[in-house]
Amino acid sequence: MPARRVIVSAARAPILESGLRDRERFARGRRITLGTMVALIPQFERGQFTAETPVPTWWPIRKRLEIAAEWARSPVLDVGAGTGWLALHLRHWGHDVTASDYSERARENFQANAAIAGYELAVGSENVSALSYAEEQFASLFCVSVLSYVEDLQGALGELWRVLRPGGIAVIGCLNAYGSFAFLFDRDPRTLWRENRHRGDIRQDVEHFHGPRWWQREFAKRFTVVEAIPLEILSPAIARFAGYGVNPRWTRADVRLAAHMPKEIASEVIFILRK
Ligand SMILES: C[S@@+](CC[C@H](N)C(=O)[O-])C[C@H]1O[C@@H](n2cnc3c(N)ncnc32)[C@H](O)[C@@H]1O
Repeated sequence: MPARRVIVSAARAPILESGLRDRERFARGRRITLGTMVALIPQFERGQFTAETPVPTWWPIRKRLEIAAEWARSPVLDVGAGTGWLALHLRHWGHDVTASDYSERARENFQANAAIAGYELAVGSENVSALSYAEEQFASLFCVSVLSYVEDLQGALGELWRVLRPGGIAVIGCLNAYGSFAFLFDRDPRTLWRENRHRGDIRQDVEHFHGPRWWQREFAKRFTVVEAIPLEILSPAIARFAGYGVNPRWTRADVRLAAHMPKEIASEVIFILRK
């Protein structure tokens, strides 16, 4: 089944595949209105994925899913797939999906989530800088919040180019070195004397600290930059101080604000690239 984009007013929200009227939810006991443009996996929407998986009410995640629904073309690769929430949604929307991650812990989460969602979707063990896939194998690929953490960045960019078909689309999410996430987490002074900088999640230590202009210039050496989408500005701060269970209104407002702001102040920027 193709990715479903449902564009309607909130008042005439459809019953989505999950059987839930998606525009009306309750958060912290208060009735709020939520909108989503894409069909979510019911188990994800009900918060049944593993504890390390982003929560469905976190608006930057929904925005990533909307971008994915718009740009994915089969066969599609999700590299550095983490807990699999994105790859499993691509599969849910009927795409021919290949997924991989080089971390065993991430792959365990991925497999657990695939079992919860009821999809048979394998997750390969791959290093983005040395992929085993054939040349021009994919019509689109996703590499979201990964490139800052790889050791061999130029190798990774070369591999992403190699496995993509001419005319294919690469959707790449990049940490902004001057954004709120970087300042709150990666530039935390305590990390200077902490022996293990891994923060207990599947993120890795940052190897490449760059601003969005740097990333864009680097991508433009190989790809045509179709769009640079500022994803969020303050959501990482909201997570840090109010937790991920906060009323989704806040992160929705942040995502909406980010869309109208320069990418330089975003915490993460999603680049849409064409080969
Ligand atoms: C911050 S997580 C993002 C995961 C997922 N893309 C998402 O958006 O939730 C970064 C992921 O990149 C993976 N990763 C880091 N370096 C990698 C590499 N060289 N090759 C493949 N995966 C890598 C990590 O294992 C981790 O799962």
